[in-house]
Amino acid sequence: MGGLTIPKFTKFNLPFLGSQKLTIGLDIGSHAIKACQLTPVGDQYKLVSLGSARLPPNCVEDGVMQEPETVGQIISTLLKNLKLKGNKVAISISGYSVIVKKISLMAMEESELASHIQAEAEQYIPFDIDEVFIDFQDLKTNTEEDERTDVILVAAKKDVVNGYLEMLSAVGLETVIVDVDAFALENAYGANFGGETENVGLVDIGASKMNINVVAKGASVLVRDVVMGGRILTDTIQSHFNISPEEAEELKTGRLDPGDKMQELEDIFVNTCNQWITEVKRALDFYYSNYPDETIDKIVLSGGGAKIKGLAKLFAEETGIKTEIFNPFAKAEGDPDKIDPGYLKNVGPEMALSTGLATRSTNI
Ligand SMILES: Nc1ncnc2c1ncn2[C@@H]1O[C@H](COP(=O)(O)OP(=O)(O)OP(=O)(O)O)[C@@H](O)[C@H]1O
Ligand SMILES: [Mg+2]
Repeated sequence: MGGLTIPKFTKFNLPFLGSQKLTIGLDIGSHAIKACQLTPVGDQYKLVSLGSARLPPNCVEDGVMQEPETVGQIISTLLKNLKLKGNKVAISISGYSVIVKKISLMAMEESELASHIQAEAEQYIPFDIDEVFIDFQDLKTNTEEDERTDVILVAAKKDVVNGYLEMLSAVGLETVIVDVDAFALENAYGANFGGETENVGLVDIGASKMNINVVAKGASVLVRDVVMGGRILTDTIQSHFNISPEEAEELKTGRLDPGDKMQELEDIFVNTCNQWITEVKRALDFYYSNYPDETIDKIVLSGGGAKIKGLAKLFAEETGIKTEIFNPFAKAEGDPDKIDPGYLKNVGPEMALSTGLATRSTNI
């Protein structure tokens, strides 16, 4: 493992090279582990298997594993149950230990850029340079008039990354790709809707955080993580009604009939979701201030939080931007005898990242 690998190097050539081996996409969230395996078929995919397993609370916090042994065991059992082939996995990380920054540098050759970035990176990141893995992508925005180019710099704390590698290696898995959550999301979107020319705001709402990635004409132009997610909703429901966390989760996900709690529950939903929307709007405003001539054509929601009834409508109303729920299987067909189509539709939103990771090939 040579450190981080930013996805865009492989994004466009994946499905067309028939014999490639794709990795197992493994999304280690704070609420649940999601796994997905695909095989390429022409310019589409076949869905080999997918599934998820809940984690006990506090196993993963702010992107850092607190209980690596428990996480490893749950991953191992999940992959065995799903009968996934091979042991090469792609994972992604986010949180305080990962920094993604767009910087402006004089245009230069890639090899030169690599050593230049290594020497320059420290001023852009809050960590000691020896403590981080560094990766970058030159967006090649330089023109004849302007010799400067935008470069996406990614730095991730070695101890956190190594913690994941060791945990996975202990259960017999080889990590071949370590990606960043927001880029895995972008890859998932690109794999399904790569031909689109619209400017899209991708928003993944997990249990403890939101990943926001604005993709303009196929390239990521703004990446932001916000520490807010579905767990806040569960906590609020729990304390408001003075019920157990399990009951609050059941009420939230609609598995428990709210009865006379309906109106109060709805108010909690709207209040919390509006806080998420405010954060997304803030990120979009930042994009608009940098690119005043551009528009965002649509917002695409994923993550378990996206399954809140009416959320897409509320986003559309509050932002004035068309909003959809992400279907990460638009180009990945599953055998309906093996994978229940109803299940597939239901888990779609939270499988987005794992699908993006599962489109990565091992021969890079
Ligand atoms: N039908 C539903 N309605 C509302 N919330 C839901 C629903 N289904 C799942 N959720 C919530 O989605 C969250 C889990 O989503 P997801 O699996 O994307 O999170 P995660 O990836 O584990 O978390 P993170 O990315 O923040 O680390 C939980 O908070 C869960 O309660
Ligand atoms: Mg997640």
